[in-house]
Amino acid sequence: MLSKPNSNNFYTNNKLSSYSLNSKEELEANKPIVITTALPYANGEIHLGHISSTYLPADIFTRFLRISKMKVFHVGASDDFGTPILIKAEKENKTPKEFVDYWNRRDLEDFNAIGISFDKFYKTSSIENQKFVQYIFNKLRSNGHIYEKEVIQFYCDFDNKFLPDRYVIGICPYCRSKDQYSDLCEKCGRVPEEILEPKCGICGQSPIKKTSKHYFFKLSNFSFELKEWLTRNKNLQEDIKNYVLHWIGEGLEDWDITRDLDWGIKIPLEDAKGKVFYGWFDNHLCYISTFNALIKERIGRHGKDIWNTSSIYHFIGKDIIYHHFLFLPAIRMGINREYKLPDYIPVRGHLMLHNKKISKSRNWYIGLKEFISLFKPDFLRFYIALISTSSQDDINFDWDIFYSTINNELIDNIGNFINRTLSFIKKNYDGIVPEPGVYYEEDKNGIKAIMNIAKDTGEFLHKTETDKALKTILKFSNFFNQYFQRKEPWCNKDSTAHTTLYISINAVRALAILLSPFIPKSAEIIWSQLNNNDKVHEESWEGLSLLKIPPGHRIGNISPIFKKIERKEIEKEKIKLGSID
Ligand code: MF3
Ligand code: ZN
Repeated sequence: MLSKPNSNNFYTNNKLSSYSLNSKEELEANKPIVITTALPYANGEIHLGHISSTYLPADIFTRFLRISKMKVFHVGASDDFGTPILIKAEKENKTPKEFVDYWNRRDLEDFNAIGISFDKFYKTSSIENQKFVQYIFNKLRSNGHIYEKEVIQFYCDFDNKFLPDRYVIGICPYCRSKDQYSDLCEKCGRVPEEILEPKCGICGQSPIKKTSKHYFFKLSNFSFELKEWLTRNKNLQEDIKNYVLHWIGEGLEDWDITRDLDWGIKIPLEDAKGKVFYGWFDNHLCYISTFNALIKERIGRHGKDIWNTSSIYHFIGKDIIYHHFLFLPAIRMGINREYKLPDYIPVRGHLMLHNKKISKSRNWYIGLKEFISLFKPDFLRFYIALISTSSQDDINFDWDIFYSTINNELIDNIGNFINRTLSFIKKNYDGIVPEPGVYYEEDKNGIKAIMNIAKDTGEFLHKTETDKALKTILKFSNFFNQYFQRKEPWCNKDSTAHTTLYISINAVRALAILLSPFIPKSAEIIWSQLNNNDKVHEESWEGLSLLKIPPGHRIGNISPIFKKIERKEIEKEKIKLGSID
């Protein structure tokens, strides 16, 4: 039972069994990793739904890879084009450029406030993206994947304009509601085949029908190649793959990639004056153009080679599967894979709010900015990370569960163990980590737990399973709460207690690093209370499983890391939200 290692360095210096992350060869080769997150439309604020489906899982993954000493690039951008943006800008008497510039800045501010860490956040309207999109179009065209076709469209003689669907307003043929868009009745939710009594959305006069030449992308050219790619790629979620294959089986429609507007990227052809690209042609290309701009800034090189030797991850929500599993890969195939296709497309479901769909217009909605003016950003990150499954299933935000998760799991479990260890050392040992003495079975188990936790948690994080990773950390912390409790270091100040505290403080150190991808700000606070000189994010994931805090180390100033949420704060938010059934 009783044993003592030869020296205390025994546990600090032993080399960990080489840390194999899911046998991924790219890790051994230290292959760079490119992470992209679906681009938010530049026309409204980031809300909890965006964070949970896309940005938080991507950010946790990015931070985990960085601390695992991988070369990682996380790029994002605002999605600046499209008719809804144009209409909103007009309503606010702003030029579209002023309008999208505002939202681009505001999005980045909101992302920063909750710790979403981009290597570069750019915009689809950047010069680089415009040039890149035109280059891609020309290449697709010379490869025979673009054709021209006349389409019939509404045209307003008074405004001298082709009217995109959103600019034609009329009576819904199904439910007879007035003032509905020609492509969507907001009353009954249907897409009118042909709107009744159409009126121009700008001047109110009746439009006429006129033909206009549009450019089409031959998606149908790629049915076979797409099928091959989907079937071969083992990293894509099986269920998604199956229904995308089903869509292909039903026959793919070519895409009209032109709009008769002037807000958009110009089509680089003489006889395409007054036409721009459809937003879904240019937006995903901005993943690449932003990456190229980043590499140029950082190392003055072209990004292409790095892109093509990296693992590519596109994080998206489930509403844009069609675009990312068919349209985006087909375009890359159409340019002879000059830029490689994605290796992973992590798709997540929607966030519901008290089991109902989030809707800004019905005020069933929580904006990010408002949320973090009320609660610590790390509270939101912790709660969402814990419920976010790596699947298409919808997840649910619930104020009561938020309250209990933070108070019970983050604070009573994790916060309690950390605080208890730190304050015990402060009070009873003048802040100095004691020299361990005897090691009982329980102590050895504690050491084992520390030694295994980097690998156990890392395996989940590597698969972007943030919920399982965080649950593993909670178990670890729970284990140490019990360990501390059972060993009762307050009863005897002898060498048994010393061993307990020495192991516990090293478990606190492990927790700080483990938590850093999830709750980065709080992890830094834990780190500084441990009185480590560097920053926790400069540490290494592998090293978290070593007992690196030596006896004799003096801890820093301490105070409780978290403050509990009060019941009344939650009740207030529930009332603000309105009727919760
Ligand atoms: N702005 C789009 C949306 O919110 C997403 C664009 S992602 C991109 O649905 F890849 F296509 F850019
Ligand atoms: Zn209708």
